[in-house]
Amino acid sequence: MTVYVSVLIVGAVVMLTFLSLCVPTVSYPPPPSQAVGSRLLHSFYQFFPRSLSPYLPGPLSLPLLGNMLELAHDHLPSHLTSLARRYGNIYRLKCGNTTMVVLNSGDVIREALVKKWSDFAGRPHSYTGDVVSGGGRSISLGDYSEEWRVHRRLAHNALQRCSQQSLHGVIQKQALHLRQVLLDYNGRAADLSEDFTVAASNVITTLAFGKEYEKSSSELQRLHGCLNEIVSLWGSPWISALDSFPLLRKLPNPPFSRLLKEVDRRDEIIRTHLDEYRVGVNTVAWLTNLYSNTQPLGYTHVHMAAVDLLIGGTETTAAWLSWTVAFLLHRPEVHYRTQYTTLHYRTQYTTVCAMYNSVSIPYVFSIAGYFIPKNTVIIPNLFGAHHDPAVWTDPYAFKPERFLEGGGASTRALLPFGGGARLCLGEAVAKMELFLFTAYLLRDFQFVPAESQASLPDLTGVASVVLKAKAYTVIARPRPTMP
Ligand code: HEM
Repeated sequence: MTVYVSVLIVGAVVMLTFLSLCVPTVSYPPPPSQAVGSRLLHSFYQFFPRSLSPYLPGPLSLPLLGNMLELAHDHLPSHLTSLARRYGNIYRLKCGNTTMVVLNSGDVIREALVKKWSDFAGRPHSYTGDVVSGGGRSISLGDYSEEWRVHRRLAHNALQRCSQQSLHGVIQKQALHLRQVLLDYNGRAADLSEDFTVAASNVITTLAFGKEYEKSSSELQRLHGCLNEIVSLWGSPWISALDSFPLLRKLPNPPFSRLLKEVDRRDEIIRTHLDEYRVGVNTVAWLTNLYSNTQPLGYTHVHMAAVDLLIGGTETTAAWLSWTVAFLLHRPEVHYRTQYTTLHYRTQYTTVCAMYNSVSIPYVFSIAGYFIPKNTVIIPNLFGAHHDPAVWTDPYAFKPERFLEGGGASTRALLPFGGGARLCLGEAVAKMELFLFTAYLLRDFQFVPAESQASLPDLTGVASVVLKAKAYTVIARPRPTMP
């Protein structure tokens, strides 16, 4: 018995000595030269991930609910950002049995998504995610795997091939059409958000299917109606609760039934489009061709790639354009000054259009010195990074001149398209769109507040997957110099 106790004591002492040697290292990320040591630690933490991690700060977590109430906040990006002021640029939230870690500064987001890209390339697997993504076969929601890599690469190639042939012409056509739509308002105040959506959508449907629509087209209304409904239902707490609390799946849930109906509607519309446009010079035709020779990709992958392009490429660009005009109304002098220098300041808009999503990590890993347990969900809060007072002076002010030479801001601190393995697939398309649309709008119109409008557009925004400007009306007055 005495021998047994002594062995236990010696074992405990050895263990404690080992721990005390390791703990100080945990607080700081190991430099690359310590790669071997880091691997050892990494394996070690797989056994003891929680007990050894320095405690990640975060708000008090309620029994059962965890921090679900924080996540149900109306304006999630700005709420997550205000939590960062209290808990720092990296903090944790609990939701059911899922731990989430929110990253709020450009540096920590870059460290995770870009520097350690292979560890942060996954997506959390979820019950409702599978429902909306054809069983995880979409690019945006698919988890990182060899199949996903091939899927993303081929879709990117197909989009690039189409873009090389026609991107400039496709966007220019839509920009000129948008100009005509604004002229047709004849100086009346109007909410332009739908016109921006149609313009952005037509660029994508032309690239994807070789097809464009009129604003009044019932087919377009149906397509957007159901895509927007899916995005908004999927983000609702009634539906995300099904991922965290599986028992709820047995109960009736009207929002979830509606989601299932909208997904069916979406799939029928996409099927019809694929049948009609799978031959021609367009992205889905390329994809169909490429995928037919690439195992294990099949029809569902082409189908979901089309959904990815439509969802990823429409509301993002449209929201960006709405924000542009809203900000210009607040600072008209920027408009005058940029009449001839549009190019220089296009990047400013990126600070307001924050699309965010989550990644999940398959292994224990570290960010900013914190060891993050396996299967933690990581949320890069791009809004927080783009409003970080440590990086941006006066972060909420629209000051495009900060990006001009000597203006003090660096474009390196911007991550509007994310980074790493999950970098926006349409970045090149989006940049060209933003440049051409903005250039035409600024060259041809002066935007003035609607006379009936007592105040200028609200700049807080409405949060969904994309942060949209609140609805406002504006007068697009043609410039006398318009060609
Ligand atoms: C202003 C325009 C745009 C912005 C600000 C934007 C932003 C982003 C961001 C931040 C992500 C990464 C989300 C994450 O962390 O998972 C993303 C992903 C994505 N974007 Fe964009 N985007 C824009 C336009 C477009 C366009 C025009 C397309 C299509 C042609 C597109 C297609 C996609 C796709 C498919 C993904 C998923 C990539 C993946 O998970 O691997 N986006 N976008």
